[in-house]
Amino acid sequence: MPISNGDACKFPSTKGEFQDYTKALVILEKEYPTRDGLDVDMLLDSDKHGALTYNDFLILPGYIGFPASDVNLETPVTKRISLNAPLLSSPMDTVTEHNMAIHMALLGGLGVIHHNCSADDQAEMVRKVKRYENGFILDPVVISPATTVAEAKELKAKWGFGGFPVTENGTLRSKLVGIVTTRDIQFHTSDDDTVTVVMSTDLVTAPAGTTLAEANQVLRDSKKGKLPIVDEDGNLVSLLSRSDLRKNLHYPLASKLPHSKQLICAAAIGTRPDDRDRLQKLVDAGLDIVVLDSSQGSSIYQIEMIKYIKQTYPQIDVIAGNVVTRDQAASLIAAGADGLRIGMGSGSACITQEVMAVGRPQAAAVHSVATFAARFGVPCIADGGIQNVGHIVKGLATGATTVMMGGLLAGTTESPGDYFVSNTGQLVKSYRGMGSIDAMEDKKASKGNSKDSKASNAGAARYFSEKDRVLVAQGVSGSVLDRGSVTKFVPYLIAGIQHSLQDIGVRNIRELHEGVSNKTVRFEMRSGSAQAEGNVHGLHSFEKKLYS
Ligand code: IMP
Repeated sequence: MPISNGDACKFPSTKGEFQDYTKALVILEKEYPTRDGLDVDMLLDSDKHGALTYNDFLILPGYIGFPASDVNLETPVTKRISLNAPLLSSPMDTVTEHNMAIHMALLGGLGVIHHNCSADDQAEMVRKVKRYENGFILDPVVISPATTVAEAKELKAKWGFGGFPVTENGTLRSKLVGIVTTRDIQFHTSDDDTVTVVMSTDLVTAPAGTTLAEANQVLRDSKKGKLPIVDEDGNLVSLLSRSDLRKNLHYPLASKLPHSKQLICAAAIGTRPDDRDRLQKLVDAGLDIVVLDSSQGSSIYQIEMIKYIKQTYPQIDVIAGNVVTRDQAASLIAAGADGLRIGMGSGSACITQEVMAVGRPQAAAVHSVATFAARFGVPCIADGGIQNVGHIVKGLATGATTVMMGGLLAGTTESPGDYFVSNTGQLVKSYRGMGSIDAMEDKKASKGNSKDSKASNAGAARYFSEKDRVLVAQGVSGSVLDRGSVTKFVPYLIAGIQHSLQDIGVRNIRELHEGVSNKTVRFEMRSGSAQAEGNVHGLHSFEKKLYS
């Protein structure tokens, strides 16, 4: 019978039990005592459905009563130190050296400097982070009065810029005597002349301590290309470049301690006796947070190291780990850890679970450890297995206060090493597990700073003891796709987390944790087909552009 008009066409609700729609909320309240979906304990009940990880579940949406931009991501990383964004970069030699640490901190997160290098190299990286001032070039290319015009031209070709300060002995912190610009050397034909013949000596400089805004103004007024910053004895300490003026972004979220202009700096060490000497150098360089880097952190060595550090350097915060169980966490918390790092076997370059048969699915590990640690006010980092914004939010929803990423950041401009073209023609960068044979033997990928390969071997320290004759790999060595600069990628992650928390209906990470523990934030398991449904499907082709 054709349906053409009348009641048959109306949506069944008009014939429903309740004609008064305003009752929907009352009925919900009265007759549905538990909310839709699962609470976190039901979700992560491993007796029922095994231990889960991020892809196995979803968070149910809540009520949106505020714009995404109102979501505040401030969160503790240790008992004493908070960040404005819950994002850390891993202490891996293809992820975090000073450049990544500086940019992660500028953007509100934190980079943990790796220790697969000599203590002196690592301390120098810490110093660079602590000395960093946005806009000032702290390691400019400096030449000496003996440099020839030909050499200056070669430097220009090599670096792509041409304004070189000239100091008495050709290094930073030596007396400034002139500056050589592109115009000075471009048409000078006597290549054997020294730069003193062509350099400008009527210099406009600014004193050390000048703020970026003041220095920018001097540059504008002077119409010069470069502004050398000098100390009271006329020694060059840094440089400001006109071409960088436009690039000098403002970083309102930058990670700084209250009452300090310096960026917060974290670095990793091991637990061997010589790591105490290493730590002394890092502390002298200005370190704020030390991360004890071990794949299995529940050990006498970590407990002793935590106690030693808390006693010797009470101003330094210690993050211990890695752990995946409450039992492991308890002894580290009791020893005085200011933060914990959670994860074993979930890293993208990791084969620990396959080889060692130990580890734990990451969502289960984070929930178990973080909810226990929270009772003692100890913040937790969900470390490893983060492939997208959703995983970050799931790490936070299961109890972590921050997440740590390796592979996701290894393809950015700020990670160590150079891009190269893979045999499929894509632009990639090296990424390797610190337990890979390459890292343990410290064979250089295309790395930056680790000059003294014999001086330290963090890979071996993290994964094996000195007496081991055979190195058994717990990681692989490979490459990841180019992701551009973290100055674009991290703001994308932050905006993504804000939108996700808005969907869940919480204004900050604390509200997320409270909602999960009082069971108002709900979850749902994802079957295999639900996972397929949640991904792009049925398209002939598509391009996955994540942000613009
Ligand atoms: P990703 O973000 O998934 O790439 O994981 C990064 C994390 O993997 C690091 O922060 C470490 O905890 C862990 N990791 C690094 N190297 C190895 C390794 O060789 N084997 C196992 N885990 C590793």
